[in-house]
Amino acid sequence: MDYTTLAGEKSDHAGRVNELESALVRSLKSTPESCPTLEIGFREGGSTIYTLGTMLSLGQHRKMVTMDVGGSMNDEIAGLMDSNAVPHENYSMTQEDFIREKAGLYTWGWVYFDADHRQNECSRDMKLIAPYLAEGCILAVDDVNLWDEVPDFSDAGLKLVPELTYQEPGHPKPHFMAWVKQ
Ligand SMILES: C[S@@+](CC[C@H](N)C(=O)[O-])C[C@H]1O[C@@H](n2cnc3c(N)ncnc32)[C@H](O)[C@@H]1O
Repeated sequence: MDYTTLAGEKSDHAGRVNELESALVRSLKSTPESCPTLEIGFREGGSTIYTLGTMLSLGQHRKMVTMDVGGSMNDEIAGLMDSNAVPHENYSMTQEDFIREKAGLYTWGWVYFDADHRQNECSRDMKLIAPYLAEGCILAVDDVNLWDEVPDFSDAGLKLVPELTYQEPGHPKPHFMAWVKQ
């Protein structure tokens, strides 16, 4: 199974889903396998498939939690997870409701925000979930180029990892940024 190709077909990232790679691998190697992954903004599951493939390539079978206001897990991706003995949960709700009601369900081993891209709302939710991240967990955020500024999250125990920033060629602002839980 070529998870990267399949992920690219289902993502609006136009084949750029592997921008996640360094952040994801670092997080999966730094946190216990008992800590699930979380994707906020599943849509058709492009980055979920990429996460699954990366996790399996490391020999891990963590629980994967996904959520999106727009829908539920599709059978194809659920089947891929089931056939690889990867437990999974999917929630259909808003990002804010998920963070307020579900963020404390687990100690997370990887968190990817790709839903509500507004600076204030995303920053609020990053701070709210920060207490529930395992030490060494990477919290990655897509489309930060839409923000006016990148706040300092050190009070929440989140330290920016500059080498994980992805900036598209020719673009004035970074597109993808990542923080590590300390
Ligand atoms: C850019 S897409 C996600 C793409 C996906 N990560 C991928 O790689 O294919 C953003 C998704 O976030 C969802 N979304 C947007 N705002 C949201 C909110 N406030 N709460 C929950 N989901 C939201 C949308 O329904 C959409 O499916």
